[in-house]
Amino acid sequence: MAWKLKGRNALVTGGAKRIGKEVATALAKEGANVCIHYSSSEAEAGGLKAALESLGVRSWLMQADFDKNGYEGLIEKAAKETGGIDILVNNASIFPQSTLQDMTLEGLSANIRVNAWAPFVLIRDLAKISENARVVNLLDSRLSGYDWSHAEYILSKHLFSALTRMAAVEYAPGLVINAVAPGLILPPPGKDMEYIERLRKTVPLKKRGSPGEIAEAVIYLLKSEFLAGEVIYVDGGRHLIEYDRGPHPD
Ligand SMILES: NC(=O)c1ccc[n+]([C@@H]2O[C@H](COP(=O)([O-])OP(=O)(O)OC[C@H]3O[C@@H](n4cnc5c(N)ncnc54)[C@H](OP(=O)(O)O)[C@@H]3O)[C@@H](O)[C@H]2O)c1
Repeated sequence: MAWKLKGRNALVTGGAKRIGKEVATALAKEGANVCIHYSSSEAEAGGLKAALESLGVRSWLMQADFDKNGYEGLIEKAAKETGGIDILVNNASIFPQSTLQDMTLEGLSANIRVNAWAPFVLIRDLAKISENARVVNLLDSRLSGYDWSHAEYILSKHLFSALTRMAAVEYAPGLVINAVAPGLILPPPGKDMEYIERLRKTVPLKKRGSPGEIAEAVIYLLKSEFLAGEVIYVDGGRHLIEYDRGPHPD
């Protein structure tokens, strides 16, 4: 018997746009109510809230900047507003460029704060108030390789990956924690689809994935009754070939 999503309350961080929006929509289509966390995308979050409500579920908005400790108290606030959080999708992240040559401690800290520390605090706070909740963390398929042009970012995702495994044990069975590692899905902000086209040939399946495919994996993990600490690579096999510096156009 799959864990039922209908009627549950979900918090999706960075849920207003792109992959987060697709996950929020997939959750609503399963009948889950969705609390959309956003940082700067207020208008998009508002539009999505209306779209989710038109699917027949409840939806709430929650603004917080993780760069400014906005993750502190967020779970408590969301639980108060919604009546309780059953599902947490840690999707929000930053993706700035940096190499080992120009990496700074400040830059590394900024990436760790948003990409690893904030989601970890949300998990830890959720464990304090729930004994039957599920979490999916968004990692990155380049964890198996070496993203040389986003060094601070990929190091923060390594930390988040380790935290995912530790938390999956520490907070079980009350929290069931799994992860999805997306591959080539959307161009980062500031890059166009040509960026994706250039990288497409480096994917064994010779295509890019869609946000919908990430959302499908998230839903699969949430419904599963016997997965914990699992990472699903949704990347057309790209993680299998990233043993060196990793293909990158920059
Ligand atoms: N796109 C891909 O192909 C790809 C590949 C590998 C892994 N991933 C992972 O999949 C997830 C989603 O990817 P994506 O490309 O859709 O993400 P994204 O668009 O780069 O970022 C998602 C959201 O994170 C929020 N965010 C950024 N800085 C924040 C801060 N300081 N405080 C709070 N929220 C903040 C933003 O919310 P606002 O817009 O409201 O400011 C943004 O919309 C990420 O964890 C990413 O690392 C994506």
